[in-house]
Amino acid sequence: MALQDKFRILEFPDLGDERGKLVVVEGEDMVPFAINRVFYIYGSDDTVMRGQHANRISEFVLINVSGTSKVRIDDGVEECIVELNRPRMGLYLPAMVWKDMYDFSADSVLLVLASTHYDGAEYIRNYEDYLKEIGVTKK
Ligand code: TYD
Repeated sequence: MALQDKFRILEFPDLGDERGKLVVVEGEDMVPFAINRVFYIYGSDDTVMRGQHANRISEFVLINVSGTSKVRIDDGVEECIVELNRPRMGLYLPAMVWKDMYDFSADSVLLVLASTHYDGAEYIRNYEDYLKEIGVTKK
């Protein structure tokens, strides 16, 4: 399957009115998994690279609820860069893709919804190990 078909850009509806915006994200509905964990990253800037791992089990939806950042997605064969730049935009990432998050704006708050509770053992943090596990010998 092509990398383009593995991840998905989601657009969440705006339930806002004259009082302001309201965005709701429900698990197993607007995101394709039950949400078991939420974390958010802020205080990063355009000099840091986060992520740099693949997850054997976890699926994620990334939302820049404030500011902007970029995500590089790599499946060992192809790579894609997605800019997260709207609070209603979500990026769905399946398990077993490599991801790097970078180029954070000063006001970036990157909200991450995850399908699992945290388990460090399901992270692959070495790119060569990742390629081995997915059976890609060289890129
Ligand atoms: P890390 O995986 O480096 O974050 P990122 O993917 O954003 O670059 O995580 C940093 C530390 O936080 C690391 O020691 C693991 C810990 N951590 C948890 O305990 N629970 C979590 O849900 C996450 C994402 C990280």
